[in-house]
Amino acid sequence: MRQLKSARESQSRNPERPESYTVRVAPTKESILFSPRSVLVTGGAGFIGSNYLRYVVPRYPETRFVNLDALTYAGNLGNLTAIESADNYSFVRGDITDATLVASLFASHAFDAVVHFAAESHVDRSILDPTAFVTTNVHGTLVLLQAARDAWKSTSLPVRFHHISTDEVFGSLGYEGEFRVDTPYNPRSPYAASKAAADHLVRAFGTTYDFPYVLTNTSNNYGPFQFPEKLIPLVLRNAASRLPIPIYGKGENVRDWLFVEDHCEALDTVLRRAPLQSTYLIGGSEEVSNIDLVHQLLSLFDELAGRNEEPSTDLITFVSDRPGHDFRYALDSTPIRDDLGWTPRHDLKSGLRKTVAWYLENQEWLDGILNQEYLSYYDTQYSERG
Ligand code: NAD
Ligand code: DAU
Repeated sequence: MRQLKSARESQSRNPERPESYTVRVAPTKESILFSPRSVLVTGGAGFIGSNYLRYVVPRYPETRFVNLDALTYAGNLGNLTAIESADNYSFVRGDITDATLVASLFASHAFDAVVHFAAESHVDRSILDPTAFVTTNVHGTLVLLQAARDAWKSTSLPVRFHHISTDEVFGSLGYEGEFRVDTPYNPRSPYAASKAAADHLVRAFGTTYDFPYVLTNTSNNYGPFQFPEKLIPLVLRNAASRLPIPIYGKGENVRDWLFVEDHCEALDTVLRRAPLQSTYLIGGSEEVSNIDLVHQLLSLFDELAGRNEEPSTDLITFVSDRPGHDFRYALDSTPIRDDLGWTPRHDLKSGLRKTVAWYLENQEWLDGILNQEYLSYYDTQYSERG
């Protein structure tokens, strides 16, 4: 135990941190504190996890990455063809709630880092049925924490667990203000509540067991390989198929959008440079109402698809609102920018243009997803909204 503590201290843990999540003692922008050799990535076949693996696997050829993913409806090995045969990458199909499997992976791969993406991630599905959200997001996170703690309790090497979370744990903002790392939690959907519970478990392990974690809360991601249940890919899929484009309520709700590749760069920065037991908020600083976003998206779609017929905005249909719909999210990302030197490379305009181009060029990927499960989900979700 003493050995473990000293290894952690060498990773510049901030001793003043437990009461407030704010990080003020930080490494310099250039310093690399932690360089993992064997990384367990959970949920790496999903949207953000697969973008992350495509970012890190070629960048760190000396590091081994094991992707543990149950391949739920949201997991797709087609997201990973670019790296599937890399020497430093392997895939294991399995569930993060399977404690025996997770322990055996720790034993055979000697992980020194976990990057934990696996989750049920869609708010509307959590409203239809919260059960899987608690099982995967809360219990699954606990299984991973226990396995990591067991595997690392007598190590003298630097180790860390990166828990990926969301801005939704903080609740809903009015027209003014931003969430900060010390904003009290106020989750309002079953999805947000399950992510908040997981965040609390991670921090409780830090306090109780001196567990070596870093935690990030991020705003709405968008970009290639996002499953078309989420707003942006759903709009693009419906525009391509000339289907109604459902906008909840009046479309006035505001989200802060972050291009997924910028998020992946931020995650890599935090894993390598953040002090242990720190939290960073990662936002795109690109706030826009849903209706304005959809207008921008559809005008780009018409331009890049070369459509000269009636504008795709004619497809917009206002439907009944999401129950408990959070009005606005916004994050104060100053600490990650100032302390760690990360800043997004894409503004909303350039990120949306890349995204629309990608979906137009990857119709085959989309066709692979439009299966019976998707169609029946779509029917359940939207037929009643009128
Ligand atoms: P996603 O739904 O696209 O992917 C989730 C992945 O986890 C899928 O590959 C799925 O097969 C896998 N998975 C689900 N349950 C599993 C289980 N029990 N065991 C193993 N694998 C399982 O999600 P995403 O949008 O890529 O989000 C990834 C993480 O980032 C989540 O933790 C989410 O809460 C968080 N997050 C997402 C966003 C966003 O805008 N998408 C923003 C902030 C935070
Ligand atoms: O803020 C981070 C969160 O962003 C992540 O934690 C979640 O995993 C991710 O799904 C996302 O949650 P949202 O609920 O904000 O994303 P979604 O794409 O579902 O919806 C974005 C906004 O668009 C939201 O205000 C609801 C609205 N919407 C969504 C859909 C699917 C519509 O108006 N119509 C739709 O059909």
